[in-house]
Amino acid sequence: MAISVLAAVGAVVLAAAAARAALFLYDYFLAPPASWTPYAGTWAVVTGASAGIGAAFARRLAARGLHVVLLARREDKLAAVAADVRAAGVDARVIPFDFASSDAGAWAELTATLTALSPTVLVNNVGVNVGEPTDFLDTPAETVTRMLDVNVRSMVAVTRALLPAMVAARRGVVYCLSSGGGATVPACMLAAYGGTKAYADAFAVGLAGEVAPAGVAVHSLVPFMVESAMSKVRARGNVMVCTADAFAEGALRRAGGREVRLNPYWVHALMGAALGAAPLGVQIRYITNLHAGIRKRALKKRAAAAAK
Ligand SMILES: NC(=O)c1ccc[n+]([C@@H]2O[C@H](COP(=O)([O-])OP(=O)(O)OC[C@H]3O[C@@H](n4cnc5c(N)ncnc54)[C@H](OP(=O)(O)O)[C@@H]3O)[C@@H](O)[C@H]2O)c1
Repeated sequence: MAISVLAAVGAVVLAAAAARAALFLYDYFLAPPASWTPYAGTWAVVTGASAGIGAAFARRLAARGLHVVLLARREDKLAAVAADVRAAGVDARVIPFDFASSDAGAWAELTATLTALSPTVLVNNVGVNVGEPTDFLDTPAETVTRMLDVNVRSMVAVTRALLPAMVAARRGVVYCLSSGGGATVPACMLAAYGGTKAYADAFAVGLAGEVAPAGVAVHSLVPFMVESAMSKVRARGNVMVCTADAFAEGALRRAGGREVRLNPYWVHALMGAALGAAPLGVQIRYITNLHAGIRKRALKKRAAAAAK
């Protein structure tokens, strides 16, 4: 009797694991891409669009026929991305905007400009981090305030401004750039940054349930390393890192799909599952050691550069 119960439990566990593996293979390698045809000719807003993941989203949305509003501080970089967007045959608007220091008047002007375009897509991408893993108590208070303003307050404010029109139109896609570090596993030595990314994840996931009945999809994106100025890592030769372009493409291909919390790069999904399965204490120790090593190497490199 006991043996047949054990066998039944084993069979259920195996079947569940097989189903998860089959779904994984289907989602990443077999599923047809989302259709963006209904969104062609409408406006998308991308925050932090002058570089990295934001610029990649802007180019990939333009390739799907969407006009793109590009928000960030560096006008020259925004202009270069806008040129790429226009080369795809769609319109681009460049709005230089500082999410850390703009006053209420600038915010009101931004909101009015954006809402007038009735955007159907919002990529809440803008984000800042500290240069290298640093203990919270060694992180200047103004750095933490900037992270909260740029990573959290801007996302909430822009979403609050643009979502009503999407809900009224009964269509829309919103992405919130969270992070594997913060949403999936602890972000030791990056506690404040990880906290902002846990917020982004909770915000997106909570919102997804609220607006799904109105035809608006919200996704929390939870990558680990993506090639960019922020991560300072290259994808070439490192399977754990993906390019910003591949990342944005993966997210757009799976818009409106089953997964609200989405990992556009399959290796990151496996990393999240493997790391997240360990006991929290083990995760904390592992990440703390990993980040302490990264900090040590970064400081050594900086000291060597300064000595030259
Ligand atoms: N790269 C990764 O490995 C990784 C992993 C997990 C999550 N993420 C998240 O992905 C998002 C994009 O990261 P990324 O790697 O592409 O970073 P990035 O290359 O550093 O790009 C950041 C973008 O944000 C803009 N920005 C920064 N501060 C701003 C401010 N105060 N006001 C307006 N714009 C500002 C920057 O443009 P300007 O300097 O021109 O303003 C730039 O366009 C972030 O939210 C990040 O937390 C990245």
